[in-house]
Amino acid sequence: MIKKLLKKVISGLGYEIKKAKLPQNYKLYKYEKPDGSFDYERYKEVQINGNKRKIESVWVTEENVAYLSEYIKKNLSRIEFGLCHGTRRGKEQKWFRKYLKAHVIGTEISDTAIEFPHTIQWDFHNIKEEWLNNVDFIYSNSLDHSYNPEKCLDNWMSCLSKNGICIIEHTSGHESTSELDPFGAPISLMPYLILVWSKGKYYVTEILTAPKQHKEYVKFLIIKNKR
Ligand SMILES: C[S@@+](CC[C@H](N)C(=O)[O-])C[C@H]1O[C@@H](n2cnc3c(N)ncnc32)[C@H](O)[C@@H]1O
Repeated sequence: MIKKLLKKVISGLGYEIKKAKLPQNYKLYKYEKPDGSFDYERYKEVQINGNKRKIESVWVTEENVAYLSEYIKKNLSRIEFGLCHGTRRGKEQKWFRKYLKAHVIGTEISDTAIEFPHTIQWDFHNIKEEWLNNVDFIYSNSLDHSYNPEKCLDNWMSCLSKNGICIIEHTSGHESTSELDPFGAPISLMPYLILVWSKGKYYVTEILTAPKQHKEYVKFLIIKNKR
């Protein structure tokens, strides 16, 4: 009754009441077995097949890694150990090593990992004990390959050393979803999502524009732990 009356008064004034909605939401493809449980074997199989199909392509660019290395040098006092996640041909760790003269390794879920230097076969959702609080920077352009970006980012952030940073490359290509790229979101939603997932433990402190724009947009989200 009151709602109806309010609506009438407000529309009489030329306004309209509408429920607030997020402009867009994120999408997460679900790997499910017929009984509804998580199908990890399927996830792994899809990722490995995709990796082998695209084994000749390189997404990351040397120009952008050089730019990020300068940013890292300006902003970090300790640059000893870096991790790159989802690295296929391992170019990012190769270039970060070149520009930062630091120990940098990459993770890759596919068994092709052994073909590329400084690359380990490893599912980036998991962390090694020795990484905890010990990684000065993390870089990834593969968060869209995560079946659970919240768990993934939470684990990555727990690896950062004091004042360490996590750099997520997010492009217009990271907005859509498929079986191969299960997580998709528009850039405008990312700082919000990250803050919700972290429950305030970490957040986006800066959004950088890549010098090499090989897509409609290429951005770097800088994420730091709250100190
Ligand atoms: C879009 S490609 C990017 C490759 C590389 N970073 C580049 O710029 O060329 C994503 C890569 O992440 C790998 N990947 C997917 N899921 C992964 C996971 N859970 N753990 C580690 N690597 C994964 C894929 O096999 C693939 O090689």
